[in-house]
Amino acid sequence: MYKVGIVGTGYVGLTTGSCFTDKTGGSYKVVFYDTDHDKINIIRELKVPFHEPGLPEMLHGGMKKNLVTATTNIKDLRECDVIFVCVGTPSNGDSSVDLEYIRRASKDIGTLIRTNPKYQLIVIKSTVIPCSTEDTVIPTLIKYSGKKYISDFGVCMNPEFLTEGNAVKDGLNPSRIVIGSNDKRSTTRALSLYEPWRSRTNIITIDIRTAEMMKYASNASLASRLGLANELARYCHSLGIDSRKVMKVVGMDPRIGPEYLGAGRGWGGSCFPKDLKGLIHLGEKLDIDVPLLKSVITSNEIQKTIMVYQLEKSLGTLNKMVIAVLGLAFKKDTDDVRYSPAIDIIKELKKRGATIRAYDPKATSNMVRLFPDIEYIESAKDALRDVDGCLIVTDWPEFASLTDDDFNLMHTRITTSPNIIEGLPILDPRKVTKFKGISW
Ligand SMILES: NC(=O)c1ccc[n+]([C@@H]2O[C@H](COP(=O)([O-])OP(=O)(O)OC[C@H]3O[C@@H](n4cnc5c(N)ncnc54)[C@H](O)[C@@H]3O)[C@@H](O)[C@H]2O)c1
Repeated sequence: MYKVGIVGTGYVGLTTGSCFTDKTGGSYKVVFYDTDHDKINIIRELKVPFHEPGLPEMLHGGMKKNLVTATTNIKDLRECDVIFVCVGTPSNGDSSVDLEYIRRASKDIGTLIRTNPKYQLIVIKSTVIPCSTEDTVIPTLIKYSGKKYISDFGVCMNPEFLTEGNAVKDGLNPSRIVIGSNDKRSTTRALSLYEPWRSRTNIITIDIRTAEMMKYASNASLASRLGLANELARYCHSLGIDSRKVMKVVGMDPRIGPEYLGAGRGWGGSCFPKDLKGLIHLGEKLDIDVPLLKSVITSNEIQKTIMVYQLEKSLGTLNKMVIAVLGLAFKKDTDDVRYSPAIDIIKELKKRGATIRAYDPKATSNMVRLFPDIEYIESAKDALRDVDGCLIVTDWPEFASLTDDDFNLMHTRITTSPNIIEGLPILDPRKVTKFKGISW
């Protein structure tokens, strides 16, 4: 039986804590702590402050069994055996990683454990640039706790690999668990905590710095792979070739593999952009050249607005055109719009004088904060009414049921070129006859 504290109840923290109660069949208790009172109040009402499939049910299950509490008072983590730090690590203006939330959390945890005779393990789950745990977290904990690292408290770095929209499945059955630690006692406790996962998951124990790098290396690899697929798809599109057919065969090579080869409207989200930028910034600090990583970002910037140019070419102009934008979240099954390609697409459309009718099943309220001045529509079908063109930006499953009848609601003046472009494959060609894919 472990008591687990979670500092930061965002996508990672709330999922991590809920998986601990669920996976262990009720033998672990979890205390969620956040400085955001609104979030904690929402959790106390048995709700999840964001959209993540399966998470409300799991949280509810834990609450019903009295395994979960939520608090804004860090002192409630005093009895915890393990405290996970899951706070945000956004980008600074200069692309470096902003460690302010990490510093603050480390300070608060240090102060908490100061008078606690109990040995507690602090686990950094936030994505932090290599050396941050050793250079920032541990010294801050030592300073504010007045305790000895290793003998009085332990520290692990346990990078998170979950993907939003699939977070619950990823949390319950991760592809791997990395435990980075510089001492045996911390490793032993972390391994014991993850015991319920051990039979089915590859658990890697390694030093802290390597664990930090593993997370950045994963995201850099995924983003680069997508970038290459997108550039190859540009050739395909120009030559009238369906890039999906090409990449399917590319992925059959066992040295390459099939995942993450799907071209589309560019990647976004809360992780890839900031993690890549952070890695490049670290390269500059270390005085090492990383032209490939830099070009992965540049290539993605280009990719994000290609749909807009394709539509402009089709329509002749976007000025005074009314364009439906279907999908605002950075991916399906989430309401997260952080670095969503839809942001760049909307900006480009506005720059060209277009009027926008936007629809997303979950992310509208988040996008309203960024673009209060565009029109938000209640359904995909209504968003199509009388528009001149349509960009499908997110592959929400509900878009697969759209038919020619729905698209016939569009303005019918333009019939010669496709005025419907999908940025990720989702429309069903048996139901919709006149559309074009960004790369197919
Ligand atoms: N979202 C993902 O898909 C994902 C996947 C893997 C790794 N990560 C990494 O995990 C970390 C968290 O990401 P997220 O998307 O869950 O972030 P988030 O922004 O959704 O949540 C962070 C939470 O931390 C809280 N917080 C900030 N400072 C705090 C403090 N001092 N004490 C208590 N709470 C505090 C915030 O109020 C917020 O609720 C980041 O480093 C991110 O890069 C995210």
